[in-house]
Amino acid sequence: MVKQENPAYGAWLLPWALAACDGPQSALDPAGHEAGLVAHLFWVMLVASGVIWLLVMGIAFYAARGRHTPWQPRRAGRFILVCGAIVPTLALAALLVFGLRLMPGLRAAGEGLRVAVQGEQFWWRVRYELPDGRAFATANEIRLPVGSRTEFLLTAQDVIHSFWVPNLGGKMDLIPGTTNRLVLEPTRTGTFRGVCAEFCGASHARMAFSVTVMEPSEFEAWAAAQIRPAAVGPVTGPGEGAALFLARGCAACHTVRGTGAAGRIGPDLTHLGGRETLAAGILPNTVANIDRFIRETREIKPGARMPSFGMLPEHESAAIAAWLGSLR
Ligand code: CUA
Repeated sequence: MVKQENPAYGAWLLPWALAACDGPQSALDPAGHEAGLVAHLFWVMLVASGVIWLLVMGIAFYAARGRHTPWQPRRAGRFILVCGAIVPTLALAALLVFGLRLMPGLRAAGEGLRVAVQGEQFWWRVRYELPDGRAFATANEIRLPVGSRTEFLLTAQDVIHSFWVPNLGGKMDLIPGTTNRLVLEPTRTGTFRGVCAEFCGASHARMAFSVTVMEPSEFEAWAAAQIRPAAVGPVTGPGEGAALFLARGCAACHTVRGTGAAGRIGPDLTHLGGRETLAAGILPNTVANIDRFIRETREIKPGARMPSFGMLPEHESAAIAAWLGSLR
């Protein structure tokens, strides 16, 4: 006996399917010109493949009923030629041309702002080059002005990573020894989630970032604040976080502009306290989490180049965390 399909089954699934269509990490909820092209291409391909699927199923159903009189070999041969070769070739060629026509838009020039992103195991080194020649470094959080085309220069330092902000555009690989170019034009403000889209090691899934799209005036103010060195008080007594940061070797890998710390291996921490998250988008940025990350780096992020500093006396890591959290 044939089991009856429950018609409510599909309806039950629908809200789940639709829930995946918007939000801060969805290619189907475009917040940028390039993502709009990708979403448009997706829907056209979906409808076209749906129509082709219905046609093929219709023909298969017709054939399976088997009540028609068999065709003459010549008629059957013509049918196979038209429906098996000519129609698919024309349909696929039309879809190919449609897809290729969207591509030059992805390669157009930027409007002056450049953001160089270097993939690292497992975080994002970000360097801004403003149109007026000013530059600054940050990590894991990108901010962009709405309505203008920003050029991304993408490379990697160790293995291949991939830069993907689904709401803003298609993904692009970061490859050691080469620089890939991507231009993104956000069309509305908001914060969107980006991920590494190429397996790159133990903490590949812990390599996220955010892109906050701002009004141009807000972006200008943010960039001006980022260019300034950290607002650090004088590095006094040995119990102070700043002094401990230098004394315990943190400065060998990290830069905090405005202090003696000028390491180049790890992320620039100059304005760490002003970031939303820690450790490439995996922990909310609180002093307690900074302390935890210092002590349990490799438990939180397996494969990270930074060792866990659980051997530090607790009051020392707490002081370093409090100081880093104050850097805005
Ligand atoms: Cu970096 Cu996956």
